[in-house]
Amino acid sequence: METKLYNISSADDERQLLEVAAILRSGGLVGIPTETVYGLAANALDGRAVRKIFAAKGRPQDNPLIVHISCLEELYALTDEIPEKALRLAYAFWPGPLTMVLKKSQAVPDDVTCSLPSVAVRMPSHKIANAIIKAAGLPLAAPSANLSGKPSPTSAAHVMHDMYGKIEAVVDGGECEVGIESTVITLCTEPPTLLRPGAVTLRQLQEVIGTVEADPSILSEQNAVIKPSSPGMKYTHYSPDAEVIIVKGSLSAFADLAKVDGSGAAVLCFDGEEKYFPGMTVFSFGAEDDPTAQAHRLFSILRRADELKVKKLFVRYPGTDGVGMAVYNRLLRAAAFRVIEV
Ligand code: TXA
Ligand code: MG
Repeated sequence: METKLYNISSADDERQLLEVAAILRSGGLVGIPTETVYGLAANALDGRAVRKIFAAKGRPQDNPLIVHISCLEELYALTDEIPEKALRLAYAFWPGPLTMVLKKSQAVPDDVTCSLPSVAVRMPSHKIANAIIKAAGLPLAAPSANLSGKPSPTSAAHVMHDMYGKIEAVVDGGECEVGIESTVITLCTEPPTLLRPGAVTLRQLQEVIGTVEADPSILSEQNAVIKPSSPGMKYTHYSPDAEVIIVKGSLSAFADLAKVDGSGAAVLCFDGEEKYFPGMTVFSFGAEDDPTAQAHRLFSILRRADELKVKKLFVRYPGTDGVGMAVYNRLLRAAAFRVIEV
């Protein structure tokens, strides 16, 4: 199949939006921009269309999808019961990079939720995403638009790279602002539990609804493997081809370690540290105290490392405060939990 690329720069581009909507309404798959990462979208109410997402990505059959909506009214069809805390979170963070897991209604096919009794819902803030959902007149099931196990795509070119020939279309809506996937919280537990950290931080959630527990698998391998509360947590995600190793310690100890490894090795450091690695392939992903910048650049750097055939990538430890928790969560999975202290 020839994958058509649409360049939609404004939510007023009605002709192109209607074409994309028609593809979705007839059960096709479209790569769409969101403010977090690109999604691989299909009609969430059509089990057959949703199954095609799993096939195109090579996604494990037990990893449920997020349903995307464009306004709060659309939430009522997906769940029979909206807890008061969910409404408070929706008012505080929607549209935006927050996904809420709620008890699902009959309308949501088991193909979306992998037969779980709950459904994950998000209202993206990206103007084009919102316009596509509106034009289709449907809730859209969309995981990140990468091949399963690869870093999430933050540009249309990344989606084309992974999905060309497998899906009907990709909509180019520019580079994703956030760069990592949404925060996922479940309201099916009391207190609610943070399942995946993202740009909406644990502290921000707690400010709105009080106690929120963080799932232990967020920063630890053992819990991720033994008892995942969110099926997606148990897979080694975001893996580039390179072996990724996170190194905790001072810059000079880090530099000594990376240099010993020599050819084929590359480093991912903070802005301004590049000069400590002469002759090596060096990426920097933001200032040490700027996890938002690190999140924005992380996945595109991991993809760039693959293009450059990097074999080993030493990464500076980013800390876990605020958005740093989300950056470290993704890095740990890219590194298959390999962390060295020097
Ligand atoms: O930012 C995002 O969330 C992007 C964009 C496209 O919206 N989407 C995304 O989808 O990251 P995906 O499939 O890559 O991640 C969805 C995560 C997985 O970890 C999955 O296990 C979890 O949400 N999830 C989905 N439904 C769930 C449910 N009912 N209960 C618990 N976890 C669920
Ligand atoms: Mg994903």
